[in-house]
Amino acid sequence: MSARTCLAIVLAAGEGTRMLSSRPKALHAVAGQSLLAHVLSALRDAGGTETAVVVGPDHDAVAAEARSQFPAAQIFVQRQRRGTAHAVLAAKPAIEHGADDILVIFGDTPLIRPRTLERLRSALAGGAAVAVVGFRPADPAGYGRLLTQGDALVGIVEHADASESERAITLCNGGLMAFAGKSALDILERIGCDNRKREYYLTDAIAIAHGMALRAVAIEVTEDEVSGINTKAQLAAAEAVMQHRLRQAALDAGVTLVAPETVHLAADTKLGKEVVIEPYVVFGPGVVVEEGATIRSFSHLQGAHVGQGAIVGPFARLRPGAKLGQGVHIGNFVEIKEALIEAGAKANHLAYIGDARVGEGANVGAGTITCNYDGEAKHRTDIGKGAFIGSNSALVAPVKIGDGAYVGSGSVITGDVPADSLAIGRGRQVVKEGWAKRLRGLKSMGKRKA
Ligand code: UD1
Ligand code: MG
Repeated sequence: MSARTCLAIVLAAGEGTRMLSSRPKALHAVAGQSLLAHVLSALRDAGGTETAVVVGPDHDAVAAEARSQFPAAQIFVQRQRRGTAHAVLAAKPAIEHGADDILVIFGDTPLIRPRTLERLRSALAGGAAVAVVGFRPADPAGYGRLLTQGDALVGIVEHADASESERAITLCNGGLMAFAGKSALDILERIGCDNRKREYYLTDAIAIAHGMALRAVAIEVTEDEVSGINTKAQLAAAEAVMQHRLRQAALDAGVTLVAPETVHLAADTKLGKEVVIEPYVVFGPGVVVEEGATIRSFSHLQGAHVGQGAIVGPFARLRPGAKLGQGVHIGNFVEIKEALIEAGAKANHLAYIGDARVGEGANVGAGTITCNYDGEAKHRTDIGKGAFIGSNSALVAPVKIGDGAYVGSGSVITGDVPADSLAIGRGRQVVKEGWAKRLRGLKSMGKRKA
């Protein structure tokens, strides 16, 4: 990491109208994380020291997301969308702090890698006044074209303003730029709006720097890193690229993904060594799976912690606050929410465990439900160590089942059960001997009732 100080300015004032959504563009998600959060995490990994986020006038939610990801982020509001250079200057007070390097990043490019930000900064450290990320898109329509003279970058012309011969240039502006702090404001404040869209184009910075005899350079990256997201189709394409990266990283870390292309990961999914993920598993945000655990097919996990060697699924659902200890077994059609399942406990079939603790080694039978909600409030169920809950029991919370206690199958348990005792809460079985035979006899005589 460079010893030079750095200010990163993230432009996130985009409306996202082409997303056909009322949600601001920067808050759409890829791999369970907002576009803005991806950009901010790349900045964090690249060692950005100071961060400014430029939001639109009524984008409080974008500002809140920026602060939740980066509490020290400074928020600036661009009142009118008058172009990318205008947006950068909304953060002028931050620029005036005098950082050595100033990075400008678009809030809709979640695939940017920290390494690219480092390369831009090295170009500045090497004496450039401006460094730009260039790429060669399959379809360059809409992108600014980089104008070069030998090694030098001398200008950028926006697609709308470009001549036929300029449009034939394949090297395009990826949108990310870095400015040497000492000349940044001088360059930015010279940018005008004499173009087809009457906007203040950040891209004009290159020709201005060239005119001031300052050096500008381009570094080239692959298209997948800089593709900006303007539509739902582009959002889906970015998701695919991100999923590929996340799966590759998991495989490289020694995780077994039996059918990688069917596993959907979140950007923050943490998978330990020797973890096995069977086909068709979905991870929402906030999941940790410890060493040696197996997640079987068709399971959905979110905000959950899976302990060492645990087995989850197939068809299990772990919701936020599910914490499974070592060696826990959670089987098919079992849903766990806000519950601690202690080491060695099992719930293997068809159960709902919410707002609960299941003690070490306890066994929760098929069809068990913790009735945690009374229509107004949530209540807790506490199941002791080694307890045995018979199949198809309803545990009406708040309720405690003591250590080593038994609950008879089909019980509705409304009161606490002391340790080592048996509770049965169901209608008594009645046996009427010969009843069925009598029924059949009556039927054969044409009568209807026994
Ligand atoms: C921009 C570049 C173009 C480049 C392309 C790469 C300029 C003038 N053009 O074009 O050379 O090839 O990105 O994707 O920079 N924004 C604001 N306020 C504004 C305008 C924009 O915050 O007033 C933000 C947007 O939210 C977005 C980013 O700046 O995150 C880029 O704006 P956008 O309108 O997408 O620029 P492009 O036309 O894509
Ligand atoms: Mg764009």
